Amino acid sequence: MKFESKAVLLVLGVAVFMALGTYFTMVVPLTDESLFTPTKDAKPYTAVELKGKEVYQREGCWYCHTQQVRNLLEETQRYGMGEEETFKRFGVRALIQAPPSQPGEYVYDKPHLLGTRRVGPDLARVGGKYDNTWQFNHLRDPRSTSPGSIMPSYTWLFDKNGLPTEEAIALIAYLQKLGTNIKWREERVEQVRRLQAKTSTQENHSLAELKENN
Ligand code: HEC
Repeated sequence: MKFESKAVLLVLGVAVFMALGTYFTMVVPLTDESLFTPTKDAKPYTAVELKGKEVYQREGCWYCHTQQVRNLLEETQRYGMGEEETFKRFGVRALIQAPPSQPGEYVYDKPHLLGTRRVGPDLARVGGKYDNTWQFNHLRDPRSTSPGSIMPSYTWLFDKNGLPTEEAIALIAYLQKLGTNIKWREERVEQVRRLQAKTSTQENHSLAELKENN
């Protein structure tokens, strides 16, 4: 084969690969509606939450925190709720996994803040995990709530009396919103409650049967 014909082949080959690449990485996602349909409980950010998102971006929280729970047991368990937490907050003992992140949760994120590094834990499901007081204490002095933490103290988001500034309040409002585009905490606890009620009535039935038979 002559060199020239090989060059044509090469150019043709490159063109085919570019076309395939464009099709699968751009055309397919653009036509897949599930990728940009909001989840059932998705709500746009309020003005305060948006302000908080700006502070989050400006302060570089995303250098150390991602916002994406991947579909791996290690992650859904880690960012879910443990027995101690569900018992303390809902009076039910259960291990509840966090739902993996879905595309529809991010429709109002412009830009999204998925992040790439996990120096600290993922924050995609942090909304509702702690109360506001914990969040403010942690932001002002991470060591006070998490001994040994290497997260910086964001003292400049507090006034000289240690009270949160408007920016700190907005930032925490934003954090509390993260991950709530799927209402998983209450819903899953409710499911566990129903399941436990069912099994306990079944147990009572079999206990009654046992007594009758003896
Ligand atoms: C230098 C890296 C770093 C930066 C920057 C950083 N963090 Fe952290 N963050 C951490 C580490 C490490 C932890 C885990 C220990 C702890 O709880 O403090 C953490 C924990 C957290 C937690 C608790 C998460 C959980 O599930 O327990 C929240 C909320 C949080 N950070 C918010 C923020 C916010 C908001 C900012 C920006 C204002 C920020 N972080 C900036 C490293 C960082």
